[in-house]
This record gives sequence, C-alpha cells and structure tokens, in this order.
Amino acid sequence: MQNFTFWNPTKLIFGKGQLEQLKSEIPRYGKKVLVVYGGGSIKRSGLYDNVINLLNEIDAQVFELPGVEPNPRITTARKGVEICKSEGIDILLAVGGGSVIDCTKLIAAGAKYDGDAWDLVTRKAVVNEALPFGTVLTLAATGSEMNSGSVITNWETNEKYGWGSPFTFPKFSILDPVHTFSVPRDQTIYGIVDMMSHVLEHYFHLEENTLFQDRMCESLLITVMETAPKLLENLESYEHRATILYSGTMALNGILNMGYRGDWATHNLEHAVSAVYDIPHGGGLAILFPHWMKHNLKVKPERFKQLAVRVFGVDPEGKTAEEAGLEGIQKLREYWNSIDAPERLADYNIDDSKIELMADRAMVYGEFGNFTKLNREDVLAIYRESL
Ligand code: NZQ
Ligand code: ZN
Repeated sequence: MQNFTFWNPTKLIFGKGQLEQLKSEIPRYGKKVLVVYGGGSIKRSGLYDNVINLLNEIDAQVFELPGVEPNPRITTARKGVEICKSEGIDILLAVGGGSVIDCTKLIAAGAKYDGDAWDLVTRKAVVNEALPFGTVLTLAATGSEMNSGSVITNWETNEKYGWGSPFTFPKFSILDPVHTFSVPRDQTIYGIVDMMSHVLEHYFHLEENTLFQDRMCESLLITVMETAPKLLENLESYEHRATILYSGTMALNGILNMGYRGDWATHNLEHAVSAVYDIPHGGGLAILFPHWMKHNLKVKPERFKQLAVRVFGVDPEGKTAEEAGLEGIQKLREYWNSIDAPERLADYNIDDSKIELMADRAMVYGEFGNFTKLNREDVLAIYRESL
C-alpha cells in the first residue's frame, strides 16, 4: 500500500424527501442561485417545479442555465460562466446527471478565472478558486456528485478531456432514489456499466497488499451485478434504485482506492471515442473494457484470476491464472450482454474510418494507463478488436 491522504469534503444527503434540505443548504452560500440542468427530463418528472418552489420559499434569486448536453460541451459552460460573471452568482445548483454536474463544475471554476474556461480543461491554466455549488443527482452513474472530476467536450475540435481540482468538489449532493425512477432503461444500463467500470479501473493496479480495498471493490461489483437485473425488471423499485444510486457514488468518491492508483486507460479510450462520435459514455465502456482486459491479461494474470474467481465464480481448478482470468473476462462480457449493454462499436455504426483520429485524441498526453502503459499501437489494436 502506498502512503495516502484521504479528503472528501462533499456533504452527502441521501434518501426519500431529502430535497427539502435545499432550504437549509443554499442559504449558507448566498441568495443568487444559478440552476443548471439538461434537456428537459427534470421538467417532465416534476423535479424542476419542486426545486424552484423550494428556492422561492427561501427567497432565493433564481437564474437558469438549461440545455446542458449529454457529453457536456464547452460552449454551454461558457454561457454559464458569462451568467455567473454578469449577475454575480453566489452558488450554483446542478440538477441532473453527470453531464449537468460536470458542466456546473467548469462553470464554477470558470467564473473565477479571467481567461477562457477551456484553458482549465486542457490544463493550460490551473484552477485556484471556484464558486460553491451543490447538486441534486438524477442518474446513478458517474460519481461526479461526490468527486472533483469533470469531463468536457469541445465538439468543434472533437476533443473530450477530464480535468479536476480540489476546488471542484460539490459542497453538498442530494441523492433521492425517487429522482432516478424516470431514468430510461438504456440510461440505467449505461450507468450500471459506468459504475462497474470505475471499480474495474481501480482493480487493475500493480500495488501489493490491498487486501481490504480488493474486497471492497469485489463487494461493490457483486452487489451491483446482483441488483441490476432486478432493477431492470422494475425500474421504479425504491430499494433497487437506492442500492444502485449509493453504489455509483461509492464507486468513484475515493473510498475504494486509498493506497494505490488504478489504471484508467479504458476511460481515456472511451472519452476519445465519444469525442468523435458523441456516444453514451457507459455504452462505450461496455464495448471497450473487455478488449482492454484481453489485451493486458498477460501483464499480471493473477489479478485477472482473482477477479474471475471471486466476482464471476470461475472455478480455478486445473487452470492457469491466464485461463481462469480469460474465463472471467468472458463472464463479464456475458453479464453485460445479459443486461443488453452494447458489445461492438458497430452497434453505434462506428467503423474504422476515424480510428486514427480517435487514437490521436487518446494519445494527446502521450502513453497512458497505470497498470500498463498503452502506446499508439495498443490503442489502435484495442479499437480494432472492438469494431
Ligand atoms: O438532459 P436531460 O433531459 O436531463 O436527460 C438526461 C440525458 O439525456 C437523461 N436523464 C438524466 N436523469 C434522468 C434522465 N432522464 C430521465 N429521468 C432522469 N431522472 O439521461 C441522459 C444522460 O445523462 P448524462 O448526465 O449525460 O449521463 P451520465 O450521468 O452518465 O453522465 C455522462 C457524462 O459524465 C462523464 C461522461 O464522460 C459523460 O460526459 N463522466 C464523468 C465523470 C466524473 N465527473 O467523475 C466520470 C465518468 O467516468 C464519466 O467520464
Ligand atoms: Zn466512467
């Protein structure tokens, strides 16, 4: 285990009816509130009205930024920065999924930066300050509600990059499973794949003696895999929505990965695909992750075997670590097929015509991955295997 410092300042407010807590949380930061949301799901579900009514009850001055896209764009974040600067916004409130929260993070940081917010995403400038923001999460997937990361797309240049700073943790996040009842089946599946992928990214590391961390990761994977099919049978089950919502937050809030660094190459590979084709993040991961795994099975077969045996119930008797590991990868694929997650890039009509551009984007900071480094040849091979 490596030395570490764990720090996560986000106040997590979980459960039915917790939206009311907006009335005590918002006034801590001021009166002028910029409510950021997406393409309309919160209006259809009634959540928008509930949020606005609560803000009116505390006499907040409400400003709005609607229309944040899935795979949020820099153009929308710039609009939000402009509102913050011209209106003197005190606090932002993101109401939506990971995209809305990620966009809000960039607006919060961009509001305190003199140049173009895209500089913060491309690491041309460092975040030194940000406006406070809270979130009301409506989709279990990214963990953005309790971490400081954000992923922003520049559609004009086909770039999509992750960035983050200690200043971009939400001050509070309200998670009511009821707010996720209306998430459609496909987005529910993408969210499940995303949170499982976060755990898998953690799991592939080279550190020794992470016994408890391994068990926590395995436990989260098993819990999500047991719950997902039941939830997909009944999308309005409070219990199953609650389990998945809590799991999604725990998968990427820093709790699972103390004392080691996970791999994260597959996320980089996926961001490059969705930068060029604008596909759902979880859909891309479902396609790419098993291929990343097969490509790197030989790096440390014991690690794959452990996952296969403990999470996928593979019987290791008479098998090499590599054979057992490969069986585990196949079982992961079968599991994702069983919940209707996509399997090939062709499912999104992606062929090899822009494979070089995707590789350029993936390689923008050079070779990547912590379990093993991927070079351009590796990247192209994994994309080809995923076609
Ligand atoms: O825009 P609206 O109308 O709200 O509809 C959204 C959107 O179309 C809809 N939706 C959300 N909540 C709903 C709902 N529909 C009905 N009922 C609800 N309650 O779902 C669609 C997808 O939403 P989005 O926010 O894009 O999904 P997700 O939460 O999966 O976020 C994906 C983005 O997060 C990034 C991804 O790359 C992608 O850009 N990530 C962010 C991370 C982070 N900040 O830590 C880590 C992740 O690995 C990921 O990369
Ligand atoms: Zn992800």
